[in-house]
Amino acid sequence: MIPWQEYDTLLRQKLSPKRYEHSIAVMERAVELAKRYGVDVDKARLAGLLHDIMKNEDKINLLQFIGNSDILLSVAEKNGPPLWHAIGGFLYARDVLKIEDADVLNAIRYHTTGRANMSPLEQVVYLADLTSSDRDYLDVEETRKRSEQSLHIGMLYSINFLICDLVKRGNMLHQDTVDCYNELIAQELNKNGKKTER
Ligand SMILES: [Fe+2]
Ligand SMILES: [Fe+2]
Repeated sequence: MIPWQEYDTLLRQKLSPKRYEHSIAVMERAVELAKRYGVDVDKARLAGLLHDIMKNEDKINLLQFIGNSDILLSVAEKNGPPLWHAIGGFLYARDVLKIEDADVLNAIRYHTTGRANMSPLEQVVYLADLTSSDRDYLDVEETRKRSEQSLHIGMLYSINFLICDLVKRGNMLHQDTVDCYNELIAQELNKNGKKTER
């Protein structure tokens, strides 16, 4: 049994009101997308609710928390503080909340970078985070539309947008994001019968 009430209380303690509202909105959107794509609704609800659980954590504490774990940060991660909360969230869910479901844990861990071979649940949570009702960035309507066409179309559009934005702002690309993009493009090329080699 999932202790929803305890999780709700925990989120209210750990997150700002705005981040709490975002978590609820992502949970709702994850459920919506899970139903659309035949993904386990309870897992989507849980991963959506908890995905940002470490978002408001003090950066030094967060780094220490990760440093005490079995995860070694890559160069891009060391230089990308916005990525820490996803790794920290994964660790918190695994080690503190004792969540054992690997798919739920991975959906939390990869919700900012994406990665190659994302499971349908990981994609649902990734897209729910970008298209929840509280989101109001310039491109959100288009991203919502694409996320409702297929998981592949939604992911391709979102990762493309993310990479362009990171490059434009002079930020590093995480290897998992590049791998995610390459895998989506390879699927496109194979679908269209084009060769991937140059
Ligand atoms: Fe996040
Ligand atoms: Fe989020």
